[in-house]
Amino acid sequence: MSNTIIETKNLKKIYLLEGTKVNALNGISLKIKKGEMVAVMGPSGSGKSTLLHLLGGIDRPTEGKVLIEGLEIFNLSDKKLAKFRNEKIGFVFQFHYLLPEFSALENVMIPLQIYNRRDAEVRAVEILERLGLSHRLNHKPPQMSGGEQQRVAIARAVINNPLILIADEPTGNLDSKNTELVMNIFKEMNDNDNVTIIIATHDMDVANYCKRIIRLKDGMLIDE
Ligand SMILES: Nc1ncnc2c1ncn2[C@@H]1O[C@H](COP(=O)(O)OP(=O)(O)O)[C@@H](O)[C@H]1O
Ligand SMILES: [Mg+2]
Repeated sequence: MSNTIIETKNLKKIYLLEGTKVNALNGISLKIKKGEMVAVMGPSGSGKSTLLHLLGGIDRPTEGKVLIEGLEIFNLSDKKLAKFRNEKIGFVFQFHYLLPEFSALENVMIPLQIYNRRDAEVRAVEILERLGLSHRLNHKPPQMSGGEQQRVAIARAVINNPLILIADEPTGNLDSKNTELVMNIFKEMNDNDNVTIIIATHDMDVANYCKRIIRLKDGMLIDE
């Protein structure tokens, strides 16, 4: 119990689309332990992205709770929630959302900009090197391969040493070689740094890196 890092209680999300209600999540209660690496699987539209956004405080639920280290995150104001997210959570998306006009190094430094620029640069270089990108520091995203861009996005997601890393179909656009590379990076962070990792995926090869699989159908949990 005490090593639970994330807990959801009866989490529901209803979207309003042109006057019609879409029940994206229909009451999800789950617990994730510190240091777990979990896959979230389910058909398209089953609520994977919605769940990940709520777990990371990107969006607010219609009903229910998310507790992270016992803190009810949706009791926080928008401003405090944003600060909490920046300090505790790293996000990686299928489409990386890197800024095309900025170099790999600058993209990775963005979450650190409130700190001393020199320290930020040293740390960003260190992480990019660890991800095998020391030869791409000054390249801009359009000058890099898809796999390289995704590794830059991972570097950006982990620059603040997040407690929890949330990845929404991070390998959805990658070939099998780059998928393996990215998954090995996640695995290493999980093994060495005890980062709790949650990955939504369609790919059984990706899910096989995870010890636990959470399955969604129509916004509900089905048996693990
Ligand atoms: N912003 C939104 N507005 C309205 N409906 C949405 C929105 N985002 C997702 N949905 C709907 O919620 C359901 C779950 O979507 P999503 O969480 O993206 O599923 P998945 O990631 O498993 O494909 C789907 O029916 C989807 O169409
Ligand atoms: Mg999705």
